[in-house]
Amino acid sequence: MDSVRMAPSASNRQDWEFILVDDHSLKEKLYRAANKQSFVREAPVVVAGVATDPDEVMSCGVNPGTVDLSIALDHLTLRAAEEGLGTCWIGAFDQGKTKELLNVPNGNKVIALMPLGYPKSELEPKDKTRKDLEEVINYNGF
Ligand SMILES: Cc1cc2nc3c(=O)[nH]c(=O)nc-3n(C[C@H](O)[C@H](O)[C@H](O)COP(=O)(O)O)c2cc1C
Repeated sequence: MDSVRMAPSASNRQDWEFILVDDHSLKEKLYRAANKQSFVREAPVVVAGVATDPDEVMSCGVNPGTVDLSIALDHLTLRAAEEGLGTCWIGAFDQGKTKELLNVPNGNKVIALMPLGYPKSELEPKDKTRKDLEEVINYNGF
């Protein structure tokens, strides 16, 4: 979790909290709030990333809470991989039910859930389905 704490954030605001869920019955309820995605109840720990000032907007018009939490949780995915742990970004969950289950106060937003655990089998690198660079790179304008 220290990789998460050390992540950069807009103006170093660190407007975030992280909830580690390892209680079996709570994970079962979270699983139901997350479209019954099996790893939510199977993983030993599910990390919830919470933006504590989610309505803030930067001068560029972008909400920093979502960006900050995304960077922090991506630190977690990379650090976990170094440790031989598997993760999955979970964006398909019910915001209201999840906040209620985790006692997240109004005015905060759960940005993502992230199951964390040792994979049953060795992780093998697999081909990534991605757009070609030419499709996404532009020079000097869109
Ligand atoms: C914002 C976001 C939300 C996602 N939500 C889910 C999810 O709810 N369930 C899931 O299994 N994967 C989820 N993913 C994982 C993506 O589906 C996955 O990264 C993408 O299909 C590419 O697969 P790959 O990373 O294995 O190449 C999410 C990823 C992101 C970035």
